[in-house]
Amino acid sequence: MAILRSTFISLSQNQPLRRFSEASAAGRRVSSRFVAGLEIEEVLRATAELNRHGIAATLDSLGENVHTPEEAQHSAAIYHQLLDAIDERSLDSNVSVKLTQMGMDLSPGLAEQIVGGLVEHAARVGTFLRVDMEGSAYTQATLDLVCRLHQQFPGRVGVVIQAYLRRSADDVRMLLQEGVRIRLCKGAYQEPASLAFPDKAEVDANYVRLTEMLLTSSVYHGIATHDPRMIAAAEKIVQDRSLPREGFEFQMLYGVRRDLQRSLLQQGYRMRVYVPFGREWYPYFMRRLAERPANVLFLAKNFFRS
Ligand code: FDA
Repeated sequence: MAILRSTFISLSQNQPLRRFSEASAAGRRVSSRFVAGLEIEEVLRATAELNRHGIAATLDSLGENVHTPEEAQHSAAIYHQLLDAIDERSLDSNVSVKLTQMGMDLSPGLAEQIVGGLVEHAARVGTFLRVDMEGSAYTQATLDLVCRLHQQFPGRVGVVIQAYLRRSADDVRMLLQEGVRIRLCKGAYQEPASLAFPDKAEVDANYVRLTEMLLTSSVYHGIATHDPRMIAAAEKIVQDRSLPREGFEFQMLYGVRRDLQRSLLQQGYRMRVYVPFGREWYPYFMRRLAERPANVLFLAKNFFRS
């Protein structure tokens, strides 16, 4: 399992395979399992459909590690369009961005300026921006940037904590003191054992411990997982502590465990689905295969279907 996971994570960084896959019709067909479409209009339709079922969304315009400031500005322009559309169509949605898509590798100052403009726009239209968490090289800079923007726009920007990182309990304590909204996930990148728990059981134990810290704080957080055991642990904390079910939200990825999404909604929990779209789907898609190699069977069947 661990070998398959690291193989897919390495493949997610393979540029020739990426170019080939993103350009091929078969690749696009297969990616539609986890990606809502190539164009803005498609993701807005998917969002309206989720909303009709009582599910909120967070929209992700796919892309990461841009190479020029122009590419970063172009990525930001798509998010400005999304925020306008969310407002005009009264969609129950916010947005999720990656700092490396906003120029973090070129200039942290540029990324902060661009993301600051997006948070300001999100605040103006009454919604929220989540900064996704990428590999550990970006963790500290991401937390620092989000805390600075949170001071300017309280409650309008949040961050992601990865339970596989050894540092995460300390980061959660710091963020709770600042009142920053957190999305808790397990973590999707390849990290060394010095920084991340190598053992799934340890990651899961940390996830439960961090869930308890989040749910018993007074800030509105997102518990992002498809793991029934993590969900049961969160439900138990809610029950044992008599916490309100609407005091937080569960979050899942587009196309994953729709059955579980529906059943949590029926039990009165809030659900938000992360909806990615766009032409640069390859790295995101390969990380999803890394999480569940059984998905490769699905991919193989569809790849060869005409
Ligand atoms: P785990 O991987 O242990 O899977 C438990 C069970 O869930 C599996 O047995 C299977 O049943 C189901 N499952 C999980 N993944 C599946 C898949 N792809 N297809 C089908 N079934 C699947 N990571 C990160 O590093 N930075 C980030 O910013 C984010 N953001 C984010 C947002 C949201 C809304 C979610 C749900 C997840 C993320 N992630 C993320 C990804 C996260 O770190 C993690 O890799 C995946 O959620 C998989 O972990 P699970 O908690 O689902 O459990």
